[in-house]
Amino acid sequence: MTERCQGDTRPRTGPRARTAIVLAAAALLAATSAVFLPGTASAGTTLGASAAEKGRYFGTAVAASRLSDGNYTTILNREFNSVTPENEMKIDATEPQQGRFSYGAAEQIVNHARSRGMSVRGHTLAWHSQQPSWMESMSGSALRSAMLNHVTQVATHFRGQVVAWDVVNEAFEDGSSGARRNSNLQRTGNDWIEAAFRAARAADPGAKLCYNDYNTDNWTHAKTQAVYNMVRDFKSRGVPIDCVGFQSHFNNDSPYVSNYRTTLSSFAALGVDVQVTELDIQGAPAATYRSVVEDCLAVARCNGVTVWGIRDSDSWRASQTPLLFNSSGQKKAAYDAVLAALNNGTTPTDPPTTPPTTPPTTPPSGSCTATLQDSTRWGDRFNSQVTVSGASNWTVVVAVTPPQKVSNTWNGSPTWDSSGNVMTMRSNGSGNVFGFTTMANGTWTRPVVRSCTAS
Ligand code: G3I
Repeated sequence: MTERCQGDTRPRTGPRARTAIVLAAAALLAATSAVFLPGTASAGTTLGASAAEKGRYFGTAVAASRLSDGNYTTILNREFNSVTPENEMKIDATEPQQGRFSYGAAEQIVNHARSRGMSVRGHTLAWHSQQPSWMESMSGSALRSAMLNHVTQVATHFRGQVVAWDVVNEAFEDGSSGARRNSNLQRTGNDWIEAAFRAARAADPGAKLCYNDYNTDNWTHAKTQAVYNMVRDFKSRGVPIDCVGFQSHFNNDSPYVSNYRTTLSSFAALGVDVQVTELDIQGAPAATYRSVVEDCLAVARCNGVTVWGIRDSDSWRASQTPLLFNSSGQKKAAYDAVLAALNNGTTPTDPPTTPPTTPPTTPPSGSCTATLQDSTRWGDRFNSQVTVSGASNWTVVVAVTPPQKVSNTWNGSPTWDSSGNVMTMRSNGSGNVFGFTTMANGTWTRPVVRSCTAS
């Protein structure tokens, strides 16, 4: 189907021809939607919803201290479907005194996010920086034990609430050496990183475990290659690593480069997911923001993009105005570019995209009807779309089959039962069509609509 864009100056057809085209298009849609709906790309009007339609998330770093700022939370709640605590899960915040854990600020963010259907990235369990003073002064086996205990305690505390952890952060040197950073953690022995990953896996087997770093965007750089070699080694030896985070703090000294997509795809080819975890770009050039998003969309295993703050005034380097919203909370040109990239982006076709073949489910209903249709399918997940008729304020209950898990939703407000398998979706003013992404975890059974209730 050809779409007409603003600025399209092609001659328009007359009313009868237009009617015929509309009828033909409707017939085509009716014929195809029973089995497969391509991504409804044009429907997305917020970053999170548009990313979700591509099976991705769009996230932001959040500071607990800003959750009382209405301008900030309005944008957060409207635009984003993933959240990373900016500082509140770091070691100095969560274990300020050895053995005494403090989760209040982190929980504030986690609760804010999860109660609104946003997922949470955990940042970070083991890092040479932002260590509490008791840890900074430790070394050797005592430090190794303290680090592993920290990983275990924090990952256990948030078990089931964090979809991906930055288990280890920034463990490599900048420059041409390709060496590990000389930190107190590194001096406990070269195996400290894999030990941290094993402890995290044992503590929260359901979370994706990431290595996260900066200046690893340029495929030709020694640091990028060093991290790549570590991940390849980990995969070959069965060290439990699931993903690599690319912070992507771009500035004039460390700019975006066109081989970024090569970097993402090369890591993905090792059998890990890749995520853009802390994106900000000096001056927020729209074209560069767009390129980053297009690069992620082009790589099937790129799960999503997180920007490192909402408004320029929220940024750790505010003077560089590197974010998508200005300090008043207004959308910048970079925002429009990112949204356009998310809406126009292609859906990766690898692995095969065989759609489910059973017909859509028409559920039992009270005074409304909810119809579930299959949408885009990838190698590890699939999207579903539910259309509600007969009510504008509705509550729809949908169940997925374990071990499936819903990882993203859009155009509704979800809550969950204790098993995590039954989602109650309520209308939130976004219309009568909502969607969600299900991680198959090896099971491709279609989700079932259990009920539709008007309220
Ligand atoms: O909260 C205190 C406040 O009470 C005090 O008055 C003030 C005075 O300095 O400090 C405040 O804490 C600051 C904190 O940010 C919250 O604003 C810390 O000093 C400051 O060091 C801290 O900076 C954070 C930085 O990591 C620390 O390394 C930035 O917010 C945070 O954006 C930044 O994030 C890192 C990622 O974790 C890893 N990748 C790089 C990225 C940017 O540096």
